[in-house]
Amino acid sequence: MKNEELIIILDFYGQYNQLIARRVRECNVYSEVVPYTTPLEKIKSMNPKGIIFTGGPASVYEQDAPMCDPKIFELGIPILGICYGMQLMSKVLGGNVKKGLKREYGETEVHLNTSSPLFSNLPNNNTCLMSHTDLVDSLPNDFEVIASTDNCPIAGMQNINKKFYGIQFHPEVNNTLNGTNIIRNFLYDICKCTGNWKMSSFVQDSVKNLKEKIGDKKVLCALSGGVDSSVAAVLLHKAVGKNLTCIFVDHGLLRKNEADEVETIFRNQFDINLIRVNAQERFLSKLAGKTEPEEKRKIIGEEFIRVFEEEAKKIGKVDFLVQGTIYPDVIESGLGKAAVIKSHHNVGGLPDYVDFEEIIEPLRDLFKDEVRKTGLELGIPEKLVFRQPFPGPGLAIRIIGDITEEKLEILKEADYIFREEIANANLDKTLNQYFAVLTNLKSVGVMGDGRTYDYTIALRAVTTTDFMTATWSKIPYEILEKVSSRIVNEVKHVNRVVYDITSKPPATIEWE
Ligand code: XMP
Repeated sequence: MKNEELIIILDFYGQYNQLIARRVRECNVYSEVVPYTTPLEKIKSMNPKGIIFTGGPASVYEQDAPMCDPKIFELGIPILGICYGMQLMSKVLGGNVKKGLKREYGETEVHLNTSSPLFSNLPNNNTCLMSHTDLVDSLPNDFEVIASTDNCPIAGMQNINKKFYGIQFHPEVNNTLNGTNIIRNFLYDICKCTGNWKMSSFVQDSVKNLKEKIGDKKVLCALSGGVDSSVAAVLLHKAVGKNLTCIFVDHGLLRKNEADEVETIFRNQFDINLIRVNAQERFLSKLAGKTEPEEKRKIIGEEFIRVFEEEAKKIGKVDFLVQGTIYPDVIESGLGKAAVIKSHHNVGGLPDYVDFEEIIEPLRDLFKDEVRKTGLELGIPEKLVFRQPFPGPGLAIRIIGDITEEKLEILKEADYIFREEIANANLDKTLNQYFAVLTNLKSVGVMGDGRTYDYTIALRAVTTTDFMTATWSKIPYEILEKVSSRIVNEVKHVNRVVYDITSKPPATIEWE
């Protein structure tokens, strides 16, 4: 199915490009991000209803500044230039761009001329995210100013006849109030889109494209039981059926019942070729006596890959390997300059020695909430689709110190009770992550007139949107009390429960 309504997002290497694509999708319009070097003929043949120029780090007056074919302005297609995109539009069409006296970064009050179709139904003053040094200081011919700030007299411009619009601020980020409305105005009022695209269209398009690409060839997928790899696997299965084989390495470090649930969903509900490898003993023996968090993480990551490779070899040559990479993973792995706090292993990381020709990442452009929507479209049960984040190394990094089978059992039971009570209290939709930790601490207690010397369970619950920072959740005392009393009564070898009241930073969400 070819989408009739396409918006091209011309990429000048801005930070927020996929966010623009996402906002366009939110308005039910299909978009594709293409590099600024895309030939004009190709752009023409894609027949877009409109083009958005993204921001970018360069200065338009630098010698090697990214530049698209200037004839793009002769296609008769509406164009919205954002930040660098506006400056480029200005330069090509005869305006001037210069370095501003002051760098303008952050949330800024922008005065909007609401008679512009771009700003219809918006307030006259709107908080917008500015992030620039350069600015347009004289307009191209036939343009007029439609937005300004104290430091930036031309923060928006338009040529209403040609349908060219430029804005210095970023409508795609949350810090810009009404940003999606600005994009919607561009799509609907200026480009005359009707909004015929839905998440279900993403599923249909992907299935069709994957079918064409893969044909009768063989595909392999590492299933972790998490949302991303599950959605990727079901999508692939819809496209190629039995030519897909999923390998599910059960390292024994998943939460109570989780491995069986994964198996039931994939084998029984979807009838997917599934190989489950029960490798708990293998992982536990590698982990025996290891106490250092980073060492534990590394052992699990490496062992996972070894097990996966061994199983893959039994299958023989495959043509494609599926990865559940999603857009935030792409950004995070691209940064690479920040200090490493923890080495995150997304179980399912790339094996070295599996014989395959190409990697397929069908969710690469999607954000987490869009992956969940796709999962629901595909009929994956809500319980799996809305599963809270779970670290690749699993419960191993929620048992402080060395790991034994006994400790794993204790933690699984305590965690299960905590999750059950959170669900009973209807808090499961508001808390973003909650789990139990088995501290390596034993303390003295008294039970049934006798002395005990047993483990302490810590409960952790946080509220967060990006998981980079998080606030500890103020769970009502009555619920904490119930969880505490159930855990000490129902789980052997636990005689004390504490609640973690540290936010991130300074703590992290997981304890290791
Ligand atoms: P921290 O503990 O760093 O965790 O505050 C932030 C978020 O990342 C999850 N996490 C992981 N996810 N592999 C993952 O896929 C990992 O190795 C890993 N370690 C932590 C953690 O659960 C939280 O949601």
